[in-house]
Amino acid sequence: MHTRNILMVCLGNICRSPLAEGIMREKLKQRKLEIYVDSAGTSSYHIGENPDRRSITNALKNGVDISKLIARQFKVTDFNGFDVIYAMDKQNMKDILKLSRNSEDAAKVKLLLDELDNTNFNEVPDPYFGGEDGFQLVFDLVNEACEKIAEKLQHEMNNYKL
Ligand code: 4NP
Repeated sequence: MHTRNILMVCLGNICRSPLAEGIMREKLKQRKLEIYVDSAGTSSYHIGENPDRRSITNALKNGVDISKLIARQFKVTDFNGFDVIYAMDKQNMKDILKLSRNSEDAAKVKLLLDELDNTNFNEVPDPYFGGEDGFQLVFDLVNEACEKIAEKLQHEMNNYKL
């Protein structure tokens, strides 16, 4: 079995996780890997909204278009639909795990930045109440983690085909 689908999760699904979705999709497309990527928020605050304007602008500046994405809330059936669920921070991870029904569900949940070995950060900081710099930091951290994941998935896929 190889990874078929990935869910990125933050609190509002308007800043960090839509960016993670957009970046991951881009990297998988470049590698011609057919893996589905989606994102969701643990809260209901912004259901139905496009990403935060600051997140859209910063992503575009870095070559990724997330303007059409629409926020939704994480739901328990996402454990059925996704192989891996990446939480942006530890509180998101806790909130997702609270909804898990068994050890199989729980085993799907990972902290995104645990994919990186060398970083001062183990969580993607919430940029919502901060300035522009915060969005670039989010971009850089998420971009690095997604690159690592894409490389891993490429290897996984190559081995699967052998
Ligand atoms: P996100 O950022 O979890 O990265 O989408 C936030 C968005 C909205 C809020 C907090 C964080 N809020 O409190 O509304």
